[in-house]
Amino acid sequence: MDSAKINISSQIGKLELRNPFILASGTLGISGPMLKYIAQEGAGAVITKSFGLNAREGYPGPVMTEVTGGFLNSMGLPNPGAEAMKNEIHEAKKSGMPIIASIFGFNEDEYVQAASYADKANADALELNVSCPHVEQVGVEIGLDPELLKKVTRAVKKSFHGPIIVKLSPNASDIVEIAEAAANGGANALTVTNTMKAMAIDIETRRPILGGKFGGLSGPALKPIALRCVYQIYEKISLPIIGCGGITCCRDVVEFLLAGASAVQIGTAIVSKDIGVFKELAQDLIHYMSKHNHQKLEEIIGTAHV
Ligand SMILES: Cc1cc2nc3c(=O)[nH]c(=O)nc-3n(C[C@H](O)[C@H](O)[C@H](O)COP(=O)(O)O)c2cc1C
Repeated sequence: MDSAKINISSQIGKLELRNPFILASGTLGISGPMLKYIAQEGAGAVITKSFGLNAREGYPGPVMTEVTGGFLNSMGLPNPGAEAMKNEIHEAKKSGMPIIASIFGFNEDEYVQAASYADKANADALELNVSCPHVEQVGVEIGLDPELLKKVTRAVKKSFHGPIIVKLSPNASDIVEIAEAAANGGANALTVTNTMKAMAIDIETRRPILGGKFGGLSGPALKPIALRCVYQIYEKISLPIIGCGGITCCRDVVEFLLAGASAVQIGTAIVSKDIGVFKELAQDLIHYMSKHNHQKLEEIIGTAHV
C-alpha cells in the first residue's frame, strides 16, 4: 500500500483526532504552554493534569520511584484548582488541537463543579479520573463502585456539554461491570486504564519508599494488564475505547488497536523516549499499515477477537 494513501485519523465519538496518539493525564504536569507544545509536536490530542475544584499540594516526597518495568508514582494529585486550570486550558487551546480536561473530586458535587470550569474553558472533551490509586476518598472509591460511578457520570453530563470519557482502574476485580456502569451513566468513551496500586520498600531503612506509601504502577509492566482490560471491555460494551498503560512502541500500539482500542494514550514513554515519541509512533504505524495493506485504522481495530 502506498503510504500517502494511509489515513491514521481516529474518531472517538464526536472527537476527531488527526492521529490516535493522546498525551496521558499528569505525566508532564499542569502547564498550558507545555500541553500546547506537545500538541504542536505531533500528538492527536492532549489531556490536562487532573484538577479538582480546589487547589491541592499533593504528597511529600519521594513521589516517584523506578521499579522493574516502569515507575511508581504517588503525586497525590497536586493541582492549582479549577479556576487556575481554566487559564492553562485556554493557553493549550491555542495549539488548535483537541484539549481534554481531566477532573477529579471528593464527591459528586465537586466533579460537577470542576466540570463546569472545564466547560467554561471550552475544553473539547472531559476525562473523569475516577481511578487514582493513591489518594483516598477520590477516584478509586468512585471508580470501583458501579452505582456511584453511574451517578457521578450522569451528574457531570449536566455541567459539561462535550464528550465525557471515563478513565477506569485496572484494580477493578470485574472491569466490564465498571465499564457498563460508566456506559449506563452516559459516558461517550472509556480510557482503559489508569495505574495499578503498588508499592516499593527500601531494604535498608525498612520503610515504604514513596511518601504516600502506595503508588500507581505505570510503564511496560502495566501493559499486559491494560491490554487484557481493553480486550474484555471491547467484547461487551459498545463505546469507543482509548487504550492506556505501558505503550512505548508501535508494536504496543497495534496490540491495543487489535484488542479494540480506537486511540491510545502515551504517558511514561515520554520520560523514557521524549516528546518525539508521537511523531515516531505515527511514522511506524503508517509503515505497519502499509506493510499489511490497510488504509484506515478501522480495518485493524478489534480484529484480534475471534
Ligand atoms: C507522574 C504521573 C502523574 C500522573 N498523573 C495523573 C493524573 O493527574 N490523572 C490521571 O488520570 N492519571 C495520571 N497518571 C496516570 C497516567 O495518565 C496513565 O494513566 C498511566 O501512567 C499509565 O500510562 P503509561 O504506562 O503510558 O504511563 C499519572 C502518571 C504518572 C506517571
